[in-house]
Amino acid sequence: MSTDTGTAVGHYDRLLAEHYTWMLGGDIQAAADRQAALLADLGLTGAESGGTAVDLGCGSGAQTLALLRLGFSPVIAVDTSRALLDELLAHVPDSGAVRPVHGDIRTALPEVSEPGTVRTVVCMGDTLPHLPARSDVPALLGDISRVLAPGGHLVLTYRDLTVELHGTDRFIPVRSSDDRLLTCFLEYRDEDTVIVHDLLHTRVDGSWRQRASSYPKLRIAPPWLAGQCRAAGLDVRRETADSRGMRILHAVKP
Ligand SMILES: C[S@@+](CC[C@H](N)C(=O)[O-])C[C@H]1O[C@@H](n2cnc3c(N)ncnc32)[C@H](O)[C@@H]1O
Repeated sequence: MSTDTGTAVGHYDRLLAEHYTWMLGGDIQAAADRQAALLADLGLTGAESGGTAVDLGCGSGAQTLALLRLGFSPVIAVDTSRALLDELLAHVPDSGAVRPVHGDIRTALPEVSEPGTVRTVVCMGDTLPHLPARSDVPALLGDISRVLAPGGHLVLTYRDLTVELHGTDRFIPVRSSDDRLLTCFLEYRDEDTVIVHDLLHTRVDGSWRQRASSYPKLRIAPPWLAGQCRAAGLDVRRETADSRGMRILHAVKP
């Protein structure tokens, strides 16, 4: 395995984008159903008359599709992976309702929306820990707070990597099927960062081929993130975990 950790953005181009929807279970509509149920449970309904939503780190579109189903339009879908944006657009029935933005979530918001105009911003499915530096988090929350309309919603879902795993617990089976197997290994670098090593096996013509790629992830503590949201001027309404250990933070702009 190479010692080069690369970047999160490069990791999707090198390895993960091609297999991302398979990793989610293979059915993007079913993934969107689950995300729509979560967002509806948080009270993000009543957008029948429209309203702009921004999906930061949209990937292949689980949350963008969910936001469309809840009535948001347009949904501005931001991602650094061109392949995943193209995949998302292939799933959208009304392509006019989605504005794809091939860009970085650290700079996109002021470029794609006016202050005080957005009904909902989501950054879900563990996108937030992909930011390169801890200081990127408060900067992003500041941008989010500025673009949200009064009463607008922010939903963050992410994994809390602050508790260190040891020994073989650090090998995490992600998904396997007849022709693919994805395993993740976590290497704790320091208080801020875990190096994620993804090991992908694909079966080609009856033999297994192995590829590996690594990238850093931020270790985000839920109380710290809630405090950063408050410092950005948002009311934290819910901070909890789902049954699979994903943290859910819901905040509202007063
Ligand atoms: C874990 S995936 C989540 C995708 C989607 N939200 C979901 O739940 O299925 C993280 C996504 O963030 C994108 N990403 C990572 N860093 C980014 C950045 N700095 N700016 C924009 N997108 C980024 C990746 O390309 C990837 O699509």
